[in-house]
Amino acid sequence: MGAIITTESLCRDFKIGDGSIVSALKNVNIEIEKGKLTILRGRSGSGKTTLINILGALDKPTKGKVLFDGRDITTLSERKRDELRRYEMSFVFQSVALMSGMNAYENVEFGLRLSKTPYGERDKRVRDVMRSVGLEKRMFHRPSEMSGGEQQRVAIARAIAHDPKVVFADEPTAELDTATGLKVVKLFKQLVAEQGMTIVMTTHDPSMIDIADKVYTLEDGEIVE
Ligand SMILES: Nc1ncnc2c1ncn2[C@@H]1O[C@H](COP(=O)(O)OP(=O)(O)O)[C@@H](O)[C@H]1O
Ligand SMILES: [Mg+2]
Repeated sequence: MGAIITTESLCRDFKIGDGSIVSALKNVNIEIEKGKLTILRGRSGSGKTTLINILGALDKPTKGKVLFDGRDITTLSERKRDELRRYEMSFVFQSVALMSGMNAYENVEFGLRLSKTPYGERDKRVRDVMRSVGLEKRMFHRPSEMSGGEQQRVAIARAIAHDPKVVFADEPTAELDTATGLKVVKLFKQLVAEQGMTIVMTTHDPSMIDIADKVYTLEDGEIVE
């Protein structure tokens, strides 16, 4: 189906307090294929978060390009990058950031409002994605009444509800036990297989990687075989 994202010689340097420079990414060339689950793996400090943040237009490289659907997104204005993140991408993080005063349904519906999904479509979409993540029976529970794995599934429902081109998930399983984490990755795989979603996730956990369609391994900011 082709690549939705291509990187060209991405480098990201960080200046730290004492004036020295950390090279968090060194000449990273990768492709994210449409309709696949791609895992970026590596030990803590290997550059996973730096890379996924640049792919998702949350950060810019020091050198190199990110082509998203054919456009170089590193040179776009902040406003355009903001629009890109809001309408074409979505994010799932390690610690689930749901609104505690809203139930699961309202959390997902709120996400649809932010992405300007028309009012008349929202209810059906919320119910559809709640079914996709297996939470249709718990839709009206608040986050505090759900397990960590269920909360992460609500966050995933929110992330997929507006049908983004790519879902980025930075260590979405890190705060879950292994079995629950595996369920989350299997849910990603199912969304990819059944709905053609494109998902990029990072993990330091080797037990997750068999499920991926494609794995890139980072070591000290470099992609290794
Ligand atoms: N904002 C920052 N300022 C300085 N150094 C950073 C910053 N972000 C990341 N780094 C450094 O870049 C390297 C890669 O970090 P990161 O991408 O967070 O790795 P990972 O997500 O794989 O744990 C690490 O050495 C980290 O200390
Ligand atoms: Mg990280």
